[in-house]
Amino acid sequence: MKVAAIIPAAGQGVRMKSPVPKQFLNLGGKPILRLTLEALAGSGIVTDLVLVVPPGELEAVRREWEKSSLVSRVVAGGEKRQDSVYNGFRSLSPGTEIVIVHDGVRPFITGEMIHASVEAAVNTGAAIVATPVSDTVKRVNGQGIIEQTVEREGLWRVQTPQVFRYDILKRAFEKAYSESFYGTDEGSLVERLGEKVQIVPGSEFNIKITRREDLFLGESILRFYQGS
Ligand code: C5P
Repeated sequence: MKVAAIIPAAGQGVRMKSPVPKQFLNLGGKPILRLTLEALAGSGIVTDLVLVVPPGELEAVRREWEKSSLVSRVVAGGEKRQDSVYNGFRSLSPGTEIVIVHDGVRPFITGEMIHASVEAAVNTGAAIVATPVSDTVKRVNGQGIIEQTVEREGLWRVQTPQVFRYDILKRAFEKAYSESFYGTDEGSLVERLGEKVQIVPGSEFNIKITRREDLFLGESILRFYQGS
């Protein structure tokens, strides 16, 4: 089976307030992006890995990665996350059957998550990793006043990997762009096609390194996995 992985890592990391985009920062002495790529390659299932980076970093990242066995191609990202993933998608080789999309800044993806979500996507067409909401959720207006307590039964927090059959993701992108729709994940584009998207249970450790405090959490999770 031809399984491609697209790794969007073209964000500027504005919320990290660091001059270096967060995907290039170190965790336990290694760049976050390298940890993510090693985890994907370590799953043994990915046959084609496309890394999507900020246009300004393209040449430097190509020099660093193109000789490596982990990465097949490096392409430039776009303005929004969806544009970056679509740029990666358009570079996929013919005959790709399954596409894994995984954030470059989620280094704690496990082999189990990858295998379970690929298997679910083979069966259903689309599968995304998520965890159930355990906090009480409120809808709040612009003045900070609560408008509603949202029923949390059936609410899930979505992560990546998100995995799709190639043809479904292709149709999802085409529909989204023809209607100028932008989603914050690829699952939402597939939902708009009316196709089923299967949830695969994720992990609270599969965090997205977004803010400065996530680096501290990340160091702890890394130590947990390394058993020290
Ligand atoms: O912005 P967000 O937290 O949703 O970013 C998730 C992932 O998408 C990150 O790995 C980030 O680098 C990537 N991204 C991208 N292109 C953008 C914006 C974000 O590849 N224009």
